[in-house]
Amino acid sequence: MPLAGKRILLVMSGGIAAYKSLDLIRRLRERGAEVRPVMTAGAQQFVTPLAVGALSSGHVYTELFSREDEQDVGHIRLARDCDLIVVAPATADLMAKMANGLADDLASTVLLATDRPVLVAPAMNPKMWAHAATGRNVETLRKDGIAFVGPNAGEMAESGEAGFGRMAEPMEIVAAVERLLDDGTKPLAGRTALVTSGPTHEPIDPVRYIANRSSGRQGHAIAEALARLGADVTLVSGPVTIPDPKGVKVVHVEQAAEMLDAVLARLPADIAVMVAAVADWRVATPNSEKIKKQPGEGPPPLMLTENPDILKTVGHSDKRPTVVVGFAAETQDVESNGRIKLQKKGADLIIANDVSPETGIMGGTRNSVKLITSDGIEAWPDLSKDDVADRLAGWIAHRLT
Ligand code: C5P
Repeated sequence: MPLAGKRILLVMSGGIAAYKSLDLIRRLRERGAEVRPVMTAGAQQFVTPLAVGALSSGHVYTELFSREDEQDVGHIRLARDCDLIVVAPATADLMAKMANGLADDLASTVLLATDRPVLVAPAMNPKMWAHAATGRNVETLRKDGIAFVGPNAGEMAESGEAGFGRMAEPMEIVAAVERLLDDGTKPLAGRTALVTSGPTHEPIDPVRYIANRSSGRQGHAIAEALARLGADVTLVSGPVTIPDPKGVKVVHVEQAAEMLDAVLARLPADIAVMVAAVADWRVATPNSEKIKKQPGEGPPPLMLTENPDILKTVGHSDKRPTVVVGFAAETQDVESNGRIKLQKKGADLIIANDVSPETGIMGGTRNSVKLITSDGIEAWPDLSKDDVADRLAGWIAHRLT
């Protein structure tokens, strides 16, 4: 997750654009950031502290002279105890206060007391934005080193007037936050990761095999996401039709036994994410020649034997990685089966997903997962497999640090 471990103080002032800040909170948290909201009295006229608190899942700071707030962190610590302050929406009034060093409420006091970088997303009527006074304030703030995102041109929600003044969209603000916080350090730099992906093919004879519908999309995306966070990643992939992920060493295998050997040969590692849909059984003695149809005879019996459990082997190995993650593709009792699997496989995290055919998850591009750890269960919304991968890489980075 690009903002894993980052702490953002979000100052909201009074404008109709405050509703967009609700989405902004969600987007920032999705990327791993912790968001601490401060609301002016004006902001509370547009959205409630209750809604803001529910989305940020923490305390919402509103009062300068509140004993409770001061005991909690205190306004000076609030101003400093973050990586970045984002002011969204920033009204003309709050910007004027900032430019002139006024501090008559919690938001303006925090902005005066901070020594952290500040990003401002203005939101106001186009005439107010175009006013010479606002122009002077913006210039002063820029000279003070304050960064801006937006405003955009568009029609105003309340007056129908057009021009610049519309607050930047949440994703534009997120992109600006990421640019400002990108210090070039990657949270998984120096870590090694091992990922399995795809199905396995278990031969019946030289031309036939037992397989499953796994596409390898989720595992490959995870390998790439871990590499993006700086990990040195080896992907052990079963037979798939998708390309090798970027920035990753790939070992191609066919059968579960080969996959196990490839994985064990690469231990120790810091991280193991076993995503492959390994066949539970293989044919005990595959025929060395193609099995022929015999006239008058029924189909040949297939004697199956159990395959090694790669995740379980890794989870109980004396070279066990610090973080071991497994998947649980289930069609029923997703949560309880996931919990059992966590124990049995010696994993730190099981990602459970319902692969009933109607979900379209197996072989598809989206995924809807539940994270099962010894601490409990966390359900993620329906996401693309790439987004699941990014979030999981962030989760792992957080766990390791
Ligand atoms: O037991 P089940 O197959 O449902 O467990 C799923 C998890 O275990 C996945 O993470 C899968 O990659 C892993 N697994 C494995 N080797 C097997 C079977 C499953 O690594 N033989």
